[in-house]
Amino acid sequence: MSAGVLFQPGRIGSVEIANRLVRAGTSETAAGEAGEITEKLVEIYEDLARNRVGLILSGHMYCHTRGQYATRQVGIHEDGMVPGLTRLAEAVHRHGGKLFAQLAHAGSQSRVVGNQPLAPSPIPNALTGRVVGAASEAEIQEAIAAFAAGAARAVQAGFDGLHIHGANGYLISEFSSPLTNQRTDRWGGSPEARDTFFVEVLKAVRKAVPTRMAVTVKVGLQDAVPGGMQIAEGVRRCGILAGAGADAIEVSCNAMRLPSDSAKEYVAVGRRRALGDLLLHRLLSPPHPEAYFLEPARLLRKRVSKPIILVGGMRTPTTMELIVERGDADFVALARPFIREPDLVVKLAEGRRGPVACTSCNLCLMHESHHSLRCWRIPRRRLMEHALYRLRGGFREAHRPHTD
Ligand SMILES: Cc1cc2nc3c(=O)[nH]c(=O)nc-3n(C[C@H](O)[C@H](O)[C@H](O)COP(=O)(O)O)c2cc1C
Repeated sequence: MSAGVLFQPGRIGSVEIANRLVRAGTSETAAGEAGEITEKLVEIYEDLARNRVGLILSGHMYCHTRGQYATRQVGIHEDGMVPGLTRLAEAVHRHGGKLFAQLAHAGSQSRVVGNQPLAPSPIPNALTGRVVGAASEAEIQEAIAAFAAGAARAVQAGFDGLHIHGANGYLISEFSSPLTNQRTDRWGGSPEARDTFFVEVLKAVRKAVPTRMAVTVKVGLQDAVPGGMQIAEGVRRCGILAGAGADAIEVSCNAMRLPSDSAKEYVAVGRRRALGDLLLHRLLSPPHPEAYFLEPARLLRKRVSKPIILVGGMRTPTTMELIVERGDADFVALARPFIREPDLVVKLAEGRRGPVACTSCNLCLMHESHHSLRCWRIPRRRLMEHALYRLRGGFREAHRPHTD
């Protein structure tokens, strides 16, 4: 095994990427009230680029106000967002990094009170419980057009590519799953009909951007909800998306009951690391295995020749290197480890072995839409701040505006 395998350049579409390490989409709860880019966001992205992350996938950006997931999420839904997005792209480019905008529509998984989400069918969202009426043909067309308009804004702002969010229970996932898409028109009723929304979004985005732009997809290959979409359908759909112009595929899960379905807890955390990170309740539990979407990625590898981005619980350099060396994936994407160690890529380049510092406790995820993105385990006083917020009932006020 070669330690340098992670530091070989890679390519997605026409975009050259300096190494195989990708920052996976991680929403930062740091936008302004109207979804605009803030200084804090510029700092977060510049820090990652300065520290040699090869490709940064932005946190999901809502392309339509009806598709906003949470407060302080970044918006790409109107032209007024472009100047801020331009500053973000410039900050990444200053350090030679590459930045793709993740285009999203939350569907009925939206946690924003007062917006009017969209869904293929009036089925309670497995994560939020929210039920909304079945989208009309005109509403579906409007959502597709919103993805395309968002893509055009990202081009204007100087992004290097687009990443369409088709996983983790959001609108595209809802159209992809037989549990949430119970339509019998051309948008549902068979696996092929359930491809239609995703494929139409991809085609519309492709059409809205110059051919040199990379367009990639995050795909939920199977539902994490029992009785839902099976892996064969997800793998087949990826083949269709590759044929329709996707330049790379990031592998994840589709419909979710819990946030931890896509972000599993305590990955590679044995007794010693549990003790070191004050996870006393984990002292007697076995670690969750690394690379938990590796099997779907391997199945996908047999079906598509486009680059694969594997996300989900890579925690040791050895695992990351093996994945790339064996060709299971071309890129390794990490979300939570970069929250705690934005300089992780530099450390790996300098030969650091052993696991990343993140213990996948998911406090970062719990605070999404409550506080801006941070690791709540360091410095240790943050654990106390977290405990106080929880005791005061902060999480019960689901949509309380975040405090900093
Ligand atoms: C705080 C937080 C925010 C996230 N936001 C996004 C997002 O905006 N877009 C996305 O595709 N995935 C998002 N995810 C999921 C991650 O991209 C990733 O799939 C998941 O955390 C597993 O990777 P990891 O084990 O390296 O953290 C988020 C995860 C966390 C912890």
